[in-house]
Amino acid sequence: MTFLITAGPTREPLDPVRYLTNRSSGKMGYAIAEAAALSGNRVILISGPTQLEIPDGVDFIPVETAQEMFDVVLKWIDIADVAIFTAAVADYRPANLAEQKIKKQEGQNRMTLELVKNVDILGSARALMGFSGLLVGFAAETENLEQYAKSKLKKKGCDIVFANDVSGADTGFDVDQNALLMVTKNQTKDLGRHSKKELGKMVVQATLEHLGKGCRFEEPCPPECC
Ligand code: PMT
Repeated sequence: MTFLITAGPTREPLDPVRYLTNRSSGKMGYAIAEAAALSGNRVILISGPTQLEIPDGVDFIPVETAQEMFDVVLKWIDIADVAIFTAAVADYRPANLAEQKIKKQEGQNRMTLELVKNVDILGSARALMGFSGLLVGFAAETENLEQYAKSKLKKKGCDIVFANDVSGADTGFDVDQNALLMVTKNQTKDLGRHSKKELGKMVVQATLEHLGKGCRFEEPCPPECC
């Protein structure tokens, strides 16, 4: 099977030296990519800028902006059986890209930036890109995790949404631990708090189980596995 995974932040340039970005180390997405590759699947990892090592055995495509991420997802999603969107995509980008560094003006204490909305990559997967495989979204929330995850599930045509609480300092962005709530049409399951590496395996296993394929990461995988 082929997994397409988005990870990391996007960077939206304002001028040659500045950009807008989102918080994301890429650790959650890379852990899922590593687990999917370890369980014998082909993995296409489409990532914004991170400091992480590329996991072994994945096809890696680096991108910077949301539009670049959209273009690469559009190019490859056709061959994917499972698409997992963990990237923290900037919802808006500067309306204008200055060719030269924007200089501060004498006496100007305030500056207004005009932003335009970026394309919703996950939200485009079904209708615009025609993806018919297993669609998995992430929801970074600070409250009402289940409620927001359910609404994302419906609105974006996902089969599964994994919600994580990003309000604290010890799970969510940047750190090595996370806590995930898995929401499907018929079920809400608390996966609990674990290392992102461990949760990566649990996410892959949950997606395979959703497809009726139960990988237990045995080595070597038994013939009926993934
Ligand atoms: O990278 P780490 O430091 O390990 O942190 C992991 C994480 C917290 C970033 C990750 O677990 C996570 O929650 N990723 C989604 C973050 C997010 O921005 O969520 P959102 O609620 O804005 O977006 C919802 C979903 O739509 C996500 O699957 C996102 O990838 C996708 N999306 C959002 C906007 C957009 N323009 N295009 C998208 O594809």
